[in-house]
Amino acid sequence: METKIFTEETIAQAASVLTKGGVVAFPTETVYGLGAIATSQEAVVRVFQAKGRPSDNPLIVHVSHVETVKESVVDFPEMAQQLADAFWPGPLTMILHAKEGRYAPAISAGLSTVSFRMPRHDLTLRLIDAVGIPLVGPSANRSTRPSPTKLSHVLEDMDGRIDGVLDGGDTVVGVESTVIDLTNAAGPVILRPGVITPEQIEREIGPLAATVDTTTTAAPKAPGMKYRHYAPATPVVVVEGDATTWQKTVQDAKEQHYKVAVMATSDILSALSVEELHTYALGEAGSVSEMNHHLFDALRSLDHVGADVILAQGIPAVGAGAAYMNRLNKAASAK
Ligand code: TXA
Ligand code: MG
Repeated sequence: METKIFTEETIAQAASVLTKGGVVAFPTETVYGLGAIATSQEAVVRVFQAKGRPSDNPLIVHVSHVETVKESVVDFPEMAQQLADAFWPGPLTMILHAKEGRYAPAISAGLSTVSFRMPRHDLTLRLIDAVGIPLVGPSANRSTRPSPTKLSHVLEDMDGRIDGVLDGGDTVVGVESTVIDLTNAAGPVILRPGVITPEQIEREIGPLAATVDTTTTAAPKAPGMKYRHYAPATPVVVVEGDATTWQKTVQDAKEQHYKVAVMATSDILSALSVEELHTYALGEAGSVSEMNHHLFDALRSLDHVGADVILAQGIPAVGAGAAYMNRLNKAASAK
């Protein structure tokens, strides 16, 4: 299958491929998504196949208007309205009780809920409008691989496996949306951290529930969180600490004849005096948004340098740092 590259000028063509049940990747502000019309079971199954994704992992429905969500759910709570007003279009996904039969059953993977998000990317909002049907959009990587933040990442994983990609340039945020479950009986709960933080959310809707209420079946956890994720083929080790710790860690690895690659902020890289070191600068010291922006590209790039190990900078898991550490720890876990 030839994978076509669509641009702003050819959005209508991309829309027509989708309308016929094809699979076209699209840009968002977080990562690229793998698009198909949410009403066609056949089209949605193609998305699972292209990704190699387990069928018990549900998909997010991407909309261009809040009205579409309201029409699709049993109940659109006040909280959902407040969150949509505050953060949409933007990197927040809400899980709600779905009306039966609206969308392809494969989307919900056996749950009674559907998750929705309105991405903040002009081309993709126009694409959804042109199709006139919401699009599913799991991250456009092969299952277990780092999520794609560039057109080249999408092609690396998907060339020949999907009908096309809408080129929207590099994504801005770099890590996937915050996922909040609004169907949890004990109160709203965050299932996946993103750059929209719990503090920002609580400012809009009041306190979150501490944990998922597992006493009711109406409270699904994000099934995707249990799978191996974000991992390059090269092992990743998280390193925390100052420049001295880093220098020692890199030296130790070298002495054991490991070929080392390092992804860290520029203050740490400039303090490392080691020859033949492959490095990727994640940004200025302390810039969590730059680190999120570069994270997946760093993992993919350093996977190609022939290193035995990628040493990756750990940071406190607070604010948007929680999103960064969530992905990095998964990339580093052997499971
Ligand atoms: O930023 C994003 O959210 C990107 C862009 C493309 O929009 N999409 C994305 O989709 O990250 P995906 O499929 O890679 O991750 C969605 C996560 C998974 O962990 C999945 O299990 C969870 O959200 N999820 C989706 N629908 C759910 C539902 N109804 N109940 C519980 N968890 C759900
Ligand atoms: Mg994903």
